[in-house]
Amino acid sequence: MLYFRYLLRNRAVRTFTEMTTQNPRQELTFEPMRLDHLQQVLEIENQCFEHPWSKTYFTLSLKRPRSYEYFYVARREHAVVGYIIFNILHEEAHILNIAVPPANQRQGIGKYLLTSALEMITADDGREVFLEVAVSNLPAQYLYRQFGFRICGIRKNYYGRYKDAYVFRKGADTDAT
Ligand SMILES: CC(C)(COP(=O)(O)OP(=O)(O)OC[C@H]1O[C@@H](n2cnc3c(N)ncnc32)[C@H](O)[C@@H]1OP(=O)(O)O)[C@@H](O)C(=O)NCCC(=O)NCCS
Repeated sequence: MLYFRYLLRNRAVRTFTEMTTQNPRQELTFEPMRLDHLQQVLEIENQCFEHPWSKTYFTLSLKRPRSYEYFYVARREHAVVGYIIFNILHEEAHILNIAVPPANQRQGIGKYLLTSALEMITADDGREVFLEVAVSNLPAQYLYRQFGFRICGIRKNYYGRYKDAYVFRKGADTDAT
C-alpha cells in the first residue's frame, strides 16, 4: 500500500455525511473519519504499521475533501476501533489502508470495515477492487481471500528491500468464499 500512500499525498478526502451504516449486533458504526477521530486513528496507525502515515498527512487529507477518496472509521461508542481508506476511480477501486488495533482484532471488525467499504464501492459502480498486501502478512491475506480477492501480481521490494507485496484483485464477478 506504500505506493498509494505516496499517491494520496496529493489528493484529499471525500467526507461523507450521507452514509453512516450501523451494525447493531456489535454496536459498531461506520462513519466518515473526522479530525476529532485523529488522535485515536494515529494511535492505531502507529500500533499497526512499521511505517505509519503521518499526522500531517491525515490532517491535510481530512481538510481537503475530494470526490473519490473515502476515509471511514468503525466506532464503538466513543472509541475508534478501526478504519479503512479507499478510492474509486472510473469503476476501479483501491483499498489503500485498513487497520484494527491489536486489542480489538479477531472480533470481526476487519470484516465489518471491508464489507461496508465494498458496499459503497458497489453502490458507486466500482467493478474491480485492487489492493497491495505484504507477502508476509498472512492475517490480512486470509481476510481478503474470504471476500473473494485473489492474487493477480507481485510488486518486488514494495515495502522496502526484500519486502514484496502481492497485488490482490476482486472483480464484480468474484464471489466471496
Ligand atoms: C488485517 C486486519 C485489519 C484484520 O482485522 P480483524 O478485525 O482482526 O479481522 P476480523 O476479526 O474481521 O477477521 C476476519 C478474518 O481475517 C483473518 N484473520 C484476521 N486475523 C487473523 C490472524 N491473526 N490469523 C489468521 N487469520 C486472521 C481470518 O480469516 C478472519 O476470519 P475468521 O475470524 O472467520 O477466521 C488486522 O489484523 C490489522 O489491522 N492488522 C494490522 C494492519 C494490517 O496489516 N492491515 C492490512 C494491510 S494490507
